[in-house]
Order: sequence, then structure tokens, then C-alpha cells
Amino acid sequence: MDICFSQAGAQFENRVALHPLSLTLTERRIGIIGLNGSGKTTFARMVNGLTKPTSGTVTVNGLDTVKDDAAVLRQVGFIFQNPQNQIILPIIRDDIAFGLKNRRMDKAAIDAAVDTTLQRLGIEHLATRRAHEISGGELQLAALAALTITGPKILIMDEPTNQLDLKNRALVENTMAGLEQDLIVITHDLPLLASFDRVLGFHQGHLHADTSPGEAIELYKKLALS
Ligand SMILES: Nc1ncnc2c1ncn2[C@@H]1O[C@H](COP(=O)(O)OP(=O)(O)O)[C@@H](O)[C@H]1O
Ligand SMILES: [Mg+2]
Repeated sequence: MDICFSQAGAQFENRVALHPLSLTLTERRIGIIGLNGSGKTTFARMVNGLTKPTSGTVTVNGLDTVKDDAAVLRQVGFIFQNPQNQIILPIIRDDIAFGLKNRRMDKAAIDAAVDTTLQRLGIEHLATRRAHEISGGELQLAALAALTITGPKILIMDEPTNQLDLKNRALVENTMAGLEQDLIVITHDLPLLASFDRVLGFHQGHLHADTSPGEAIELYKKLALS
């Protein structure tokens, strides 16, 4: 990935969610940590243009999130904190196919692509299930399938292991490790980031740490318990 924030910040009316910051992200695995309300989701939404900078600019692989917003959305997929909100169709298989139907592919090609995606994520058994009947971890994987089938280069996951039991957490962690896409992962589940390349820590809307997983985790613990 090549993500560049140039004095980019976001303000909602009078409230500053993210103070202007400049940085370049090129690593394959980036973690984001920080207390509730520290600006993590705002930062991540600015990467795929869901939130536009109110100062400065953000570019992704050379594309500007304001001027080239549609192209940025195709390159950067976002799994929200509550993935059930982004599953649109009741049956998992239909939901995964949805992104391709919009591209007017023929049915046989769509079916083949859905099968490949289900296999790649190891969730063939979920194909005919209903979204409201499956577990939180399975829901994360179904949302991942629906996003990855359209070919994004970067995936953002907002607290993907939140509220998962140990079994589902392991399922999500293992799947994440095998993804070919570059990842930006927001989490309070600090061990999830142990093998990541770089961790950003936010505090009160400022970038407070930009370091290795080990150091960021120590800083975060100090901050949280102070
Ligand atoms: N759409 C919005 N409108 C107004 N305030 C917002 C909006 N989004 C975020 N904020 C505020 O910006 C701050 C940072 O929020 P957020 O980025 O969601 O934090 P985090 O993800 O770290 O919990 C919070 O004070 C939040 O209330
Ligand atoms: Mg958040």
C-alpha cells in the first residue's frame, strides 16, 4: 500500500476528531490502537474516503480520496465494527455475489467467483446460511468474502475480534494472516497485532505513537491504566 496523509485532519462542526497529521504508510500490516473516541475510526474512514479531510489531503496509491473517490473505494474495502449492518442480502451466497452482479457479469462467472472466494476463506459451509443465524466470527468472514470478491488491494477492519469467543477469534486471526490484501486493523485485542509491521496509537485525536507492536502495546497499557 501507499497511503499518504499530508496535514490531513477531520473536524465535525466544532469538534476535532483528528488533528492534522502527515505520514506515509507502505507496510502490509498496520495496526491502530487507542482509547474509545481517540480518532481511530475517523483515521481509517479517511483512508477510503468515507470521511473527507476538512484540512489537507489523503492519497491512496496516488489517488486522492476527494477527487478520485470512486477509484479509492474500489481499492480499499472497509469492514465495519458491526458487520451485520453491511450484509445486504439474507443468504450469505447471494450477499457475496451482490458486488459482482452490479458489474453485469454473467451468472456462471459470478457463481464460479463466489465458489473460489468461499473456498479461499474456508467458508463453503456458510454459503446457504442466513446472515442472522451465523456466529460473529463467521459474520466477519462472510463480510470479508463479500468485500474481497470485488478485488480491493487494501482492507480495513474495525475491531474485527470484538465480542468474539476464543474459537471465533482464532478463526478470524488465522484468516487475516492468510489474506493477500494489505491490512489496516483497528483493535483493542493487542495480541492480534503481535506480528504486524507497524502500529499507530491515537490519543485525543492526535497520533501519539508510531512504532513496533511491542512498544505501542506498552505505551497503550500505560495510557489506559494511568
Ligand atoms: N460523524 C461524526 N460527527 C460528529 N462527531 C464525530 C463523528 N465521528 C466521530 N466523531 C467524534 O470524533 C471523535 C473520534 O471518534 P472516532 O474516530 O469514532 O473514535 P474511535 O474510533 O477511536 O473510538 C469522538 O469524539 C467522536 O464523538
Ligand atoms: Mg471506532
